[in-house]
Amino acid sequence: MINYKKITDETYWIGGSDRRLSRFENIFPLNSGVSYNSYVIVDDKTALLDTADISISDQFLENLSGVLDGKKLDYLVINHMEPDHCSQIATVVAMNPDVTLVGNAKTFTFLSQFFPELNEQKKITVTEGDTLELGSHTLSFVMAPMVHWPEAMFTFDTTTGVLFSADAFGTFGAIDAGIFADEYDFEKTFLNEARRYYANIVGKYGMQVQAVLKKAAGLDIKFICPLHGPIWRKDIAWFIDKYQKWSTYTPEDEDIIVIYGSLYGHTESAAQKAAALLREKSGKKVAVYDVSQTHASELVSEVWRCKKIVLFCPTYNNGIYIPMENFLSDCASLMVQNRTFALAQNGTWAPASGKLMTEKLQCLKNVKIVEPMLTIKSALHETDEQELDAFVTAVVEA
Ligand code: FEO
Repeated sequence: MINYKKITDETYWIGGSDRRLSRFENIFPLNSGVSYNSYVIVDDKTALLDTADISISDQFLENLSGVLDGKKLDYLVINHMEPDHCSQIATVVAMNPDVTLVGNAKTFTFLSQFFPELNEQKKITVTEGDTLELGSHTLSFVMAPMVHWPEAMFTFDTTTGVLFSADAFGTFGAIDAGIFADEYDFEKTFLNEARRYYANIVGKYGMQVQAVLKKAAGLDIKFICPLHGPIWRKDIAWFIDKYQKWSTYTPEDEDIIVIYGSLYGHTESAAQKAAALLREKSGKKVAVYDVSQTHASELVSEVWRCKKIVLFCPTYNNGIYIPMENFLSDCASLMVQNRTFALAQNGTWAPASGKLMTEKLQCLKNVKIVEPMLTIKSALHETDEQELDAFVTAVVEA
């Protein structure tokens, strides 16, 4: 059933949502699906901005035909070549053999890797600031390398102020009846998922996000149309401020997070006691997570939100407890910065996880490690109260 929606003058959303996919990129669990957004401008010339994931191809193609209503498609602007957005390019070309593909030089390198059969298709190669006239709409191209792939670019419609922002400003989560962020309680419905999406998908590229935010600051943006999640037409500055914080690794609030690994419950018990004392002594909210039960992408998202992170970790095979090691590897590969970590290690005969976690964290930029570290021998007891108190006080005062 055709289900496209008008955004503003001659500009339409023609995407759809997938609520069946359990893991985005086969890595990140989806709690409430994901949307794949695609857009069309119907002017003297028609332009499609990105295609969609194969999972919603029927809906996407039906919407495209519906919005074109018999007109031919003149341009396909490719802002991003990742397959969740490019999967339908060959199909669209097959249905519109005269369509001209618009992208940058890297776009077309990737296009020929994914779709060598399109090497001879008509193309326009654009660079920063180039424009494309559709009639009353003028499209201007803004390069956004590494947000989230090297070929990524934004397209800005200077006539309507619509910024087609590729992966930037996207979020996990299906779109329900409304396509605009202001049709939801965004903070309640999407903010955690938007942060998890940002931190895990483009978190590593804060510098590049900063560079493109600076360019965007020079545009008169009235709408932000990302490739995932709802469209922004109100409170745009509020969401840009979130991106400003996230891309500069600035914590959003003062909450403390405690992440523990535990084989038999002893490290867990110590972490729970420490969390209770932290809450009491700091007056801050304290969130506790079991590293074996909470997906690393959720933990990474919490690291992006909070300033202080307390890790309780058993020693395992003379190393770091594996799920904790995996989480720390994620922090390293996403280049977490500007955070304070406190470490508690457990070991029945040779505690070593504290030293090993310290070595991993020392590789991160602007990361402070609170002294003293807490060492647990098998289990924490009332006799260890003084040591625990000193540890908690150090975290609060850090
Ligand atoms: Fe939604 Fe980088 O693709």
